[in-house]
Amino acid sequence: MQNDIQEVLISEEEIQAKIKELGEKLSAEYEGRDPLVICVLKGAFIFMADLVKNITVPMELDFMAVSSYGASTKSSGVVKIIKDLDESVEGRDVLIVEDIIDSGLTLSYLIDLLENRKAKSIAVVTLFDKPARRTVDLQADYAGFVLPDAFVVGYGLDYAEHYRNLPYIGILKPEIYSN
Ligand code: XMP
Ligand code: MG
Repeated sequence: MQNDIQEVLISEEEIQAKIKELGEKLSAEYEGRDPLVICVLKGAFIFMADLVKNITVPMELDFMAVSSYGASTKSSGVVKIIKDLDESVEGRDVLIVEDIIDSGLTLSYLIDLLENRKAKSIAVVTLFDKPARRTVDLQADYAGFVLPDAFVVGYGLDYAEHYRNLPYIGILKPEIYSN
């Protein structure tokens, strides 16, 4: 599997150090607020697990699965809820945990949805950000790494459902896509 990776962009050590930093900031921000921390599946599952271990305040966790219709390496903006939240967000301080923000369409849909459900506050933490590809005006409140405009895999992110288990972020060899 590792043979499919052309280049490691961000190492496991760099990712873990950044998550510690984010955890410290979020622990200070959410002191006394008992946030509802929402993982956007599937991509954010590893980040969610590592992040919440580094947030020291009481919290509840919930999971939501969404997918956008259309091509596999591009968001179409039409978001389908595969699995909805179990908890009500009404009156809650909500923290959305995302793997990567690309066009921003998925996140902008989610924020609208949670606003309509009357969340008290909504903040977004993303591990990876591709600001150059944004089609909607949207910024994460907390972002780990800014990435170049390239399709990346690993640390939760997939190509055709593979590579999510890699502990680092990398770029695939071009021939993998043409198979
Ligand atoms: P949008 O465009 O809605 O996209 O911000 C967010 C979702 O698109 C996926 N995505 C990627 N998945 N490597 C991936 O494996 C990438 O480089 C990449 N860029 C975007 C991802 O599911 C994200 O939640
Ligand atoms: Mg994906």
